[in-house]
Amino acid sequence: IQTDIPSLKDTVPFTLGAAFHRGATLGEHAKLINKHYGSVTPGNALKWDATEPAEGRFTFDEGDALVDFATGNGLEFRGHTLVWHSQTPAWVFEGATKEVLLQRVENHIRAVMGRYKGRIGTWDVVNEVIDENQPDGLRRSPWFEITGLDYIRTAFRVAREVDPAATLVFNDYNTEFPRKREAMYKVVKQLRDEGVPIDAVGHQLHVNIEQPPAYFIEDTIERFATLGVEQQVTELDVSVYTDFVSTYPTVPADVLARQGHRYKEIFDVFRRQAAKLSSVTIWGVADDETWLSTFPINRVNAPLPFDDELQAKPAFWGVADPSKLP
Ligand code: G3I
Repeated sequence: IQTDIPSLKDTVPFTLGAAFHRGATLGEHAKLINKHYGSVTPGNALKWDATEPAEGRFTFDEGDALVDFATGNGLEFRGHTLVWHSQTPAWVFEGATKEVLLQRVENHIRAVMGRYKGRIGTWDVVNEVIDENQPDGLRRSPWFEITGLDYIRTAFRVAREVDPAATLVFNDYNTEFPRKREAMYKVVKQLRDEGVPIDAVGHQLHVNIEQPPAYFIEDTIERFATLGVEQQVTELDVSVYTDFVSTYPTVPADVLARQGHRYKEIFDVFRRQAAKLSSVTIWGVADDETWLSTFPINRVNAPLPFDDELQAKPAFWGVADPSKLP
């Protein structure tokens, strides 16, 4: 890795993190993480399908290795994620009455959070439960169909009980868009007013090189600040495409330069709002491990500050030192 560049984390006034997707054999990525980031989030290793593939059979090898790596290197760890509609094994919902499903989520959280108590300081307790196209703003997942809002209440209550010191996050995407923002705001406010222990909202922030305008992001941070809730950016990346079909054979230099300016614009917002943001996590260490190379289609994408060879891109300089942007 490059040694003659600044540490990204030293250039920002909040905790800077990265997601990792490589399993325990991190190789060169470990060096990049240690130099540039203060926090890590596993891309997949702690999801339900990875940790409890069959009822009561827990698999923690991968999670243990990653948590050991983080602890051994003084990195904070974000647990992702306890309750989601995706990457959840079919058995969880099979034949489940409301009572059975709430018991299953309780057992799962006790086992997974309990194992890492004191070592994982922040958990995405629920992920992507909002659907702004529903009149009540709630996603019609099996969780919702079977339990209503109770799966969310149970998840946060149990999570608080298992590790009272952990920061409990309500995480979602597209929260920078006004309709989604307002739908999430309403649900989070209602639950917190009831006493559900939601400490923070997580803004995933999967954006692209043009959309949304940076002021949408700023409006979202200001809006949730009125709830007095902690805020984190949890999955930032900046796709080089603005639609679901275009492809570049390789991403042109002028596009990477524009992306660098886009990173600057977004981090300008984060720096201005630093008092309201406790952490910013980028969704991947380098472009060789981005989910955007397979979603929504297979194509070359380059959404992160480091390229396939782990070298700093304009996106890096957009964060670290915009005077060096092309
Ligand atoms: O593990 C299998 C492997 O055995 C198989 O050979 C291979 C072939 O397809 O697939 C592997 O599973 C993949 C898995 O990542 C592990 O690499 C899945 O296909 C792939 O769909 C999965 O993608 C993950 C995605 O969540 C799934 O929903 C991404 O890595 C992960 O970055 C992404 O993360 C989500 C957040 O959890 C929530 N917010 C959105 C974000 C981006 O989708």
